[in-house]
Amino acid sequence: MNKAILGFSKLSKEEKINWIAKEYFSNPSEAIALLKNYWNSDEKIQKLHDEFIENTISNFYIPLGVAPNFEINGKISSIPMAIEESSVVAAASKAAKFWSTRGGFKATVINTEKIGQVHFIFKGDESKLNLFFTQTKSLLFDETESITKNMQKRGGGILDIVLKDKTNLLPNYFQLHATFETMDSMGANFINSCLEQFAKTLKTEALNYDLFSEDEKNIEVVMSILSNYVPNCVVRAEVSCPVDLLVEKHIPNPKEFAKKFIQAVQIAEVESFRAVTHNKGIMNGIDAVVLATGNDFRAVEAGIHAYASRNGSYTSLSHAKIENDIFTFWMEVPLALGTIGGLTSLHPMAKFSLEILKNPSAKELMQFVAVAGLAQNFAALRSLTTSGIQEGHMKMHLNNILNQFKATEEESILIRKHFKHHVVSHNAVVDYIENLRRQI
Ligand code: MEV
Repeated sequence: MNKAILGFSKLSKEEKINWIAKEYFSNPSEAIALLKNYWNSDEKIQKLHDEFIENTISNFYIPLGVAPNFEINGKISSIPMAIEESSVVAAASKAAKFWSTRGGFKATVINTEKIGQVHFIFKGDESKLNLFFTQTKSLLFDETESITKNMQKRGGGILDIVLKDKTNLLPNYFQLHATFETMDSMGANFINSCLEQFAKTLKTEALNYDLFSEDEKNIEVVMSILSNYVPNCVVRAEVSCPVDLLVEKHIPNPKEFAKKFIQAVQIAEVESFRAVTHNKGIMNGIDAVVLATGNDFRAVEAGIHAYASRNGSYTSLSHAKIENDIFTFWMEVPLALGTIGGLTSLHPMAKFSLEILKNPSAKELMQFVAVAGLAQNFAALRSLTTSGIQEGHMKMHLNNILNQFKATEEESILIRKHFKHHVVSHNAVVDYIENLRRQI
């Protein structure tokens, strides 16, 4: 049985690695060699990565790919994507190329408001709390001035603070619900610092508020934290063209294609089991760009899925229609992103990815990310409603199967040639490899 360890974080990197290797691996020196194989040969770069988190022992690679030919609001861009799933970048590139000859993608940022809350318990007369809040509100702004000064210079800051009565949900539960504009930064640190100052001011002022009884003076702050649910920080991405223009080699009947495509979207709009997978396809595109640009994909995921259930049941993020013979496919998603601060300039590859995007503002990045999500969704639905998903997916997955079976260069050439004209399935590839090897 493995032993628990005290003070692991205090060990040196070498000691941590030795302990892990001895404790969990039958061949410790092989495990150590593998970890070291994934270290960066540039010590400075490795140190940077070591210091991103605690207890770093090595790096975990994910491929960084590029999907070119995205026409967005009339400009052509290449979109960097960090993702391990074989078919995602290929699908995005295919969708980008398809729409580049049909008017391209349109993207619009609808709003950019972020949210944070101070959650607290107040036991007493609510009308007195309301009066206290009205009289203290300006102080909440004043006492965060040192934090907000720079953000204000950049055009952002605290937009508003409201007191919310949540006692219908939990006894004595109230909130300061604050809204923020954080410009080109995602704003998590800025918002949390403001909130913690609000909490201090709230407590101190309550203690000195003469109208409160002794009990009422004792406001209990439970926590102060931003919300990753940002329903007013939304971007819209869209493609549209006359139905007949959807025609191409694999879409011989564009009317039939558009009808079936819209049915597929409608199913995701009414059926949660399908909606989750439909939206997962959107997240393939969104997460890959969010990750490549050093943004927080967990925050984005949490916020988007909450948005997808905002009307009480989980539904499709994207929608499609035909009106006056024009096919339109669109999506609105909340995205709290930054192009300054956090890992965006610290992680060399995030910086590199942002440079490919021509160092965008946060609003521009929201547009790139939403477009990548819509492109991915278009590619998935197009495959699903025509050839089926496995054809393209397995073609891309073939490399993984070849690697799994340690296929030689000669074997790989023969296998790729064969499967150009045959359906790729795991079993078919395995049978083929085994057959080949028997012949040698
Ligand atoms: C696979 O990663 C994503 C899809 O399942 C999305 C979808 O079903 O729409 C293909």
